[in-house]
Amino acid sequence: MLKDTSVLLDERRIFKPNYELVEEAHVKNWEAELEKGKDLEKYWAEKSEQFEWFKPWDKVLDESNKPFYKWFVNGKINLAYNAVDRWISTDKRNQVAILYVNERGEEKKLTYFELYREVNKMANALKNLGIKKGETVSMYLPMCPELLISMLACNKIGAMHSVVYSGLSVGAFVERMNDAKAKVLITADGTYRRGKIINLKNIVDEAVLQCPTIETIVVVNHTGSDIEVSDLSGREIFYDRLIEGESDECEAEEMDAEDPLFILYTSGSTGKPKGVLHTTAGYMVGVATTLKYVFDIHDGDLWWCTADIGWITGHSYVIYAPLLLGTTTLVYEGAPDFPDPGAWWNIVEKYGVTKFYTAPTAIRHLMRFGEKYPQIYNLSSLKVLGSVGEPINPEAWMWFYKNIGKEKTPIMDTWWQTETGMHLISPLPVANLKPGSATLPLPGIDADVVDEKGNSVPLGKGGYLVIKKPWPAMFRTLYEDEERFVNVYWKEFPQGFYRAGDMARKDEDGYYWIQGRSDDVLKIAGHRVGTSEVESSFVSHSAVAEAAVIGKSDPIKGQVIKAFLILREGYELNTSLIEDLKKHVRYELGPVAVLGEIEQVDKLPKTRSGKIMRRILRAQEEGEELGDTSTLEE
Ligand code: WTA
Repeated sequence: MLKDTSVLLDERRIFKPNYELVEEAHVKNWEAELEKGKDLEKYWAEKSEQFEWFKPWDKVLDESNKPFYKWFVNGKINLAYNAVDRWISTDKRNQVAILYVNERGEEKKLTYFELYREVNKMANALKNLGIKKGETVSMYLPMCPELLISMLACNKIGAMHSVVYSGLSVGAFVERMNDAKAKVLITADGTYRRGKIINLKNIVDEAVLQCPTIETIVVVNHTGSDIEVSDLSGREIFYDRLIEGESDECEAEEMDAEDPLFILYTSGSTGKPKGVLHTTAGYMVGVATTLKYVFDIHDGDLWWCTADIGWITGHSYVIYAPLLLGTTTLVYEGAPDFPDPGAWWNIVEKYGVTKFYTAPTAIRHLMRFGEKYPQIYNLSSLKVLGSVGEPINPEAWMWFYKNIGKEKTPIMDTWWQTETGMHLISPLPVANLKPGSATLPLPGIDADVVDEKGNSVPLGKGGYLVIKKPWPAMFRTLYEDEERFVNVYWKEFPQGFYRAGDMARKDEDGYYWIQGRSDDVLKIAGHRVGTSEVESSFVSHSAVAEAAVIGKSDPIKGQVIKAFLILREGYELNTSLIEDLKKHVRYELGPVAVLGEIEQVDKLPKTRSGKIMRRILRAQEEGEELGDTSTLEE
């Protein structure tokens, strides 16, 4: 949540589109396109024509069993076929599909034709491991070509993938693995980070002891570490060895439009992580269309989305959308400020990146080092910039606009979620922009800001962000938990709106200003972290009896964790215990769980039914009014 949203209320600057961009843009008239998008089914039906279908669909949208919507009913299609195979018979055959770059300055290029063969080999190898259509393959990999290849290989044979972000650690990993119940796990020896090699294999070795379904572990020897075949256990095999001798041809599985595509775990405010399930055709149409229009993708573009593939932004916009559009996607492994804070701008110059998509937390981090670094490099190849993950404060927006975009390059502030699969609220490059506003719902999207009863709030007022009509890349359910899917997202408003879990305000022009989560989900450096996951990790430490955590505002990361702990008899919160607790949480959850402060308390505010009222803790912490305390136990 933006701590001081009052700055937004005063933000009145408007930035007009850049003329040169408008001339070449796919969409030259924003208003007209929004108007066209009002006939939602017609709009998305048209967009489905960009793909090759094995069998055309009969009906765009089936709303007969709300909220279990179906898109492109009875259509047959394959994602990998459309993202890779389709380009082999065109002049994109020898174009670079994946440009992998790491912080050591090493690079690896895979053309569409090379990618095609690699995907096919891996697809055949997965079949040989006994993976069948509809089964799940788990992945715990750094940003490396094998991750993209493995994900596409799953699509090719109709298997689902469940990618676990490699910045999550043992506890979080085990929970996600056991929910997805995969037989095969693909992982790597390690990953490069700030001049060091982080060992991933150690984490996996420890975690899989608690994952009974895993039969085979495929290990990518990514950092060239000295593990030998003899170091591997009976169920482990090196990636290279696995695909050795496999045919580079593999027939694409005919998938129903609604066949599951992948599971991606995300955090909620209560309970275990949610297995967000996406299906095939609608997802393809949604992500490809939004990338094409929001970032105005053309042949010749070099696209760079800095997100890790372990999050939805990476799934949708590092791998799937760009390949479905036949563009080149840059995959970067490393930190933004290593070897120095000019690392990213160096890459933009070296490769001539044209469209660049990142997160506010990264911009705020790089801002600290001043204007010096971006000035060293020639950034004139850039045409469109983008932001995602949390509200971008106007100050960061202006810095990005001025120093990176050189006041010529519009910033697309894209609002969306793991659940939505694709951008839902965002400008197009031809829009008038206001720093800090995601502007309007995209064409073909019906969103609104409503009060508790679901009535639209007047312009200038705030409320709950909802999506009123289905959209193609929407998640279809939570993995093996339909009840939770219905209860969490579709119950609150009797009109059947999708409840996003964010607060927003519409200004006098109808522009949306997202104000942060309305629930207890934390956003740490743009990463979604569940309060309940952090709390249970604290409680699994022998010193802790009870725990409550809230997000505390942080100038760079947006939020960090503030924990309130009731300790067990005989424990005292001293420096060594604090260190130990930090280590413990990091071990359980990984570096995403950034601990700001730990405070020892005697009691936690609870409702009569025993639920922790984090709202009260937050209000106390920020020195605000406590609000309604009628449900408080005492
Ligand atoms: C927040 C990330 C403001 C929001 C794609 C949402 C944003 C949550 C923006 C989803 C934005 C994402 N402006 N807030 N442009 N983009 N958010 O699932 O709170 O990791 O609900 O998906 O991020 O986070 P998730």
